[in-house]
Amino acid sequence: MTKYQAAQEYLRQNQHAWLVTGAAGFIGSNLVESLLKLGQKVVGLDNLSTGYVHNLEQVEEIVGPDHWRNFRFIKADIRSLDDCRHACQDIDFVLHEAALGSVSRSIDDPILTNSSNIDGFLNMLVAARDAGVKRFVYAASSSTYGDHPKLPKVEGEIGRPLSPYAVTKYVNELYADVFARTYGMESIGLRYFNVFGPRQDPDGAYAAVIPHWIAALIRNGELAINGDGETSRDFCYVENVVQANFLAALTKDSSAVNQVYNVALGDRTTLNQLYQSMRTVLSGRFAHLHNHKPVYRDFRKGDVRHSQADISKAKTLLGFSPTHPIDLGLRQAMDWYVRRLAP
Ligand SMILES: NC(=O)c1ccc[n+]([C@@H]2O[C@H](COP(=O)([O-])OP(=O)(O)OC[C@H]3O[C@@H](n4cnc5c(N)ncnc54)[C@H](O)[C@@H]3O)[C@@H](O)[C@H]2O)c1
Repeated sequence: MTKYQAAQEYLRQNQHAWLVTGAAGFIGSNLVESLLKLGQKVVGLDNLSTGYVHNLEQVEEIVGPDHWRNFRFIKADIRSLDDCRHACQDIDFVLHEAALGSVSRSIDDPILTNSSNIDGFLNMLVAARDAGVKRFVYAASSSTYGDHPKLPKVEGEIGRPLSPYAVTKYVNELYADVFARTYGMESIGLRYFNVFGPRQDPDGAYAAVIPHWIAALIRNGELAINGDGETSRDFCYVENVVQANFLAALTKDSSAVNQVYNVALGDRTTLNQLYQSMRTVLSGRFAHLHNHKPVYRDFRKGDVRHSQADISKAKTLLGFSPTHPIDLGLRQAMDWYVRRLAP
């Protein structure tokens, strides 16, 4: 039995109270779904700024009425300390996902990103500390590696941040570390690397590359590759992220706590490879893709050139073992988008 299977089995037998912030977003709604399926009690907090009620409606449909009864939604904003305190009442574990994502958005409006990602994060830490939660697991980011040239990325070696977003995610780690040392609070930061999967928003100026491209391919729209297409990323299917969150929340190993971990596959895929594999799979379903070609445009500011995680720390200390390699994850994600977007 893997550590993840053991964690799932434990949760089936033991009900805890979880707060998932950013619950109406992509990763948050996937966490809510997995927790409810295991019979957990879940409070979801979201201000619906980039998340959607329809994400939660889909979770309700998937988990069914018996599990859905264990869910309570609070429309609230982490920039309000009162909202955070209210949400943290009687909570065992916090999975803090609420933040404004996107490097480009943070370059366009650094004050807005700062307010949710730093002020909001600090409010959540204070509220969770005062409520006495057992553990605070939070979404950190691979953007924290900034301009450090080393590949693959190891947790202890980071460079200078390349965007306001990266600054905010690094500050989260600094605050969590200080709260551990000054207040004895238990937290774990998970540095996600380019997560993808069902319910990730394909639309809008700040959409992530995978959902944006799948939607463009299905709709036969223009698909733009920033730069020469040889930029690479360690794309990680969301089920692997759910696993990392559960392991981080439940680990009893004290040396594993108050740490940050890379959460990814440990692989690297270029944008050109990503485009080719998505087009190949979708060509079987959409005739218009046989002659489809991407357009190449300038590199985007703030983007790192290559990103690949060393995941040995998460493997060793948390027992992390990704269940979804990129091809399997892409197929599952594409199935979901085809069902949702195809005419
Ligand atoms: N998706 C990725 O590849 C990736 C990579 C690294 C880190 N992350 C981090 O993971 C977390 C979840 O990202 P996601 O991809 O699911 O994005 P998302 O935009 O789908 O989800 C974020 C959610 O947080 C909510 N939110 C934002 N500001 C809020 C506020 N002030 N108060 C309450 N709710 C607020 C949004 O409405 C949204 O539902 C974020 O912290 C993000 O920075 C994501």
